[in-house]
Amino acid sequence: MKPDLDSIISLTKEHIKPSCEVSGRTFQDYPTSILMFPDEIERKEKIKFGFEMILKYGILRGEVYATSPNLEGIAVWLPPKKVHQSIWSLIRCGGFHVMRKTGLKAMKKGKPLHDYMGPAHKRLVPFDHWYLQSIAVEPEEQRKGYGGLLLKAMITKIDREGLPIYLETNTEKNVSFYQNYGFKVVEHVIVPKTEVPFWCMLRNNS
Ligand SMILES: CC(C)(COP(=O)(O)OP(=O)(O)OC[C@H]1O[C@@H](n2cnc3c(N)ncnc32)[C@H](O)[C@@H]1OP(=O)(O)O)[C@@H](O)C(=O)NCCC(=O)NCCS
Repeated sequence: MKPDLDSIISLTKEHIKPSCEVSGRTFQDYPTSILMFPDEIERKEKIKFGFEMILKYGILRGEVYATSPNLEGIAVWLPPKKVHQSIWSLIRCGGFHVMRKTGLKAMKKGKPLHDYMGPAHKRLVPFDHWYLQSIAVEPEEQRKGYGGLLLKAMITKIDREGLPIYLETNTEKNVSFYQNYGFKVVEHVIVPKTEVPFWCMLRNNS
């Protein structure tokens, strides 16, 4: 039997804080985290703050799932028409608070990333689609099938809707992981003004 949404749990705003902790640990050595916080100690302390906004918006406008109440893995999905966040909704989801916690220096370092990401997303996928905004599995829980479970459950639902899925990733290891689920690379660049590799991937339903 294919995994579906009954195999995972839907998260609500009570889960935001612990989910930020999981995401912070998970993305510790991720290229975009290193770009924003080259200092390891600062990274350990601050990387989690950015997820507050992602999770809040996901819960408000999209769907956020975990593998179980233990939060081994968490995925944030945004539906068609909600994939691009307005300034107003960024503020509503705690943008100022996150900026204060993250710091101006890190925001400046991350700017080339944001300058590339949004426009590339709009250019490459100018049609209705779901967006896998974030997927994170606790480091010690990886390679046990949790990431695959989160993906498969949502793919089953989205396939029924007949819609494509878009995601971005910054490691080659992840590219092959997603390829196993039918995603194809639609663009691969080094983000201008950085050394961060960037793959845009699309899973077409047809
Ligand atoms: C990418 C990520 C979400 C994948 O989650 P995961 O739970 O490790 O994924 P799975 O366990 O389902 O699959 C990962 C690999 O383990 C293998 N695997 C799955 N169950 C396994 C098991 N019981 N024993 C050994 N290997 C296993 C899978 O075949 C897969 O191999 P492949 O990538 O070579 O195909 C996770 O590694 C992660 O959070 N990484 C850090 C953050 C990140 O990069 N997020 C994605 C940003 S785009």
